[in-house]
Amino acid sequence: MTVNPSHHSVLSKNLQQETLQLQNAWGHYKHSFLNSYLVQSVEDPRINIQSVLTRHFLLKEVLGDLYDDVMEHEIRFALTANWLLDILSSSSAHRAHNEIADVLCALLDDSKSPEVEVPQFLEDSFAMPDLSDYIESLLNAALSVDLKEGLTDEYLNIFMLVWKRILDGEQDERISVLEPACGSANDYRFFDDSGLSRFLNYTGFDLCEKNIANAQKVFPDISFDVGNAFEIPSCENAHTFCFVHDLFEHLSPEGLERTVLEICRVTSRKICLHFFNMADIPQHQIHPTERYHRNLLSVLQMRQLIEPFSNSIEIIHIDSFLRDKFGYSDTHNKEAYTWIVELK
Ligand SMILES: C[S@@+](CC[C@H](N)C(=O)[O-])C[C@H]1O[C@@H](n2cnc3c(N)ncnc32)[C@H](O)[C@@H]1O
Repeated sequence: MTVNPSHHSVLSKNLQQETLQLQNAWGHYKHSFLNSYLVQSVEDPRINIQSVLTRHFLLKEVLGDLYDDVMEHEIRFALTANWLLDILSSSSAHRAHNEIADVLCALLDDSKSPEVEVPQFLEDSFAMPDLSDYIESLLNAALSVDLKEGLTDEYLNIFMLVWKRILDGEQDERISVLEPACGSANDYRFFDDSGLSRFLNYTGFDLCEKNIANAQKVFPDISFDVGNAFEIPSCENAHTFCFVHDLFEHLSPEGLERTVLEICRVTSRKICLHFFNMADIPQHQIHPTERYHRNLLSVLQMRQLIEPFSNSIEIIHIDSFLRDKFGYSDTHNKEAYTWIVELK
């Protein structure tokens, strides 16, 4: 990370105190827990829609709009995996197996039985020639494994390999990307697996030393550093792009404001922000917990904070986006939002 010697920020007493609390909040977990808790089940970045959108945000900068159809297929594939996980968690293994088998039969057999309800998104996805084989493999995989163990890497990696093949043929002109609160390289791992990492000058930082130790162990040559989003040690516009997953809800109102100022200061073009707890309400609902916050953020207040720095803000309410564009109504988190901010 480029350290800016002229950037002598002094944190307020409150933010110094909050920094210590946030450090302790994540620092008390074991390395092994931090390494795995956000890359499992619906949080697995290969099938978590917000992680998929981060990769698409970066891929569009690298490849332009040439592969929009592949991006749509990847979202549909991820939704199929999400749908399977939802069935697994909400019914017995026996019922889940029967439901998946019935749906697969109905998809394969045009003369489908009227008793079997095939979700619209699956029917539409199965009708796409380039996608149907992948969907069929995923459903068959779910039928052939012990469902409680979840989906195996062989199937979850299908789109990692699709992108690897596409990116293998491309020239690697790198774009500069910053990821505050990167955890244990939770998303970066799949930039690597999909071949995207070759196109990035990536810098990740996190307040929690154990997370950074985990990331450095796997990626010793990549810039993973311990750092604080309240005082990012980079010059103005040092990074072209920035993305952040699931940080802002955990900060005090002062910490949230400070972090937005910081990421807008160090980024020159676009920021992709992901929220897990946001709503169309007039004001943030601030909920301090023992160690940090778990706030419900207001779209309006967040917009007021970011607007002075931006030319445009695309606000994607994940549940509405998946319903309207894909006919998928079972998203696990109705409060999730993704924002794409184009900076002035
Ligand atoms: C919910 S986790 C999200 C991790 C990762 N972005 C993901 O979505 O997988 C929140 C992360 O924010 C980090 N964090 C909290 N406060 C921070 C701060 N002020 N500066 C940098 N990182 C911070 C924590 O250490 C933790 O790794």
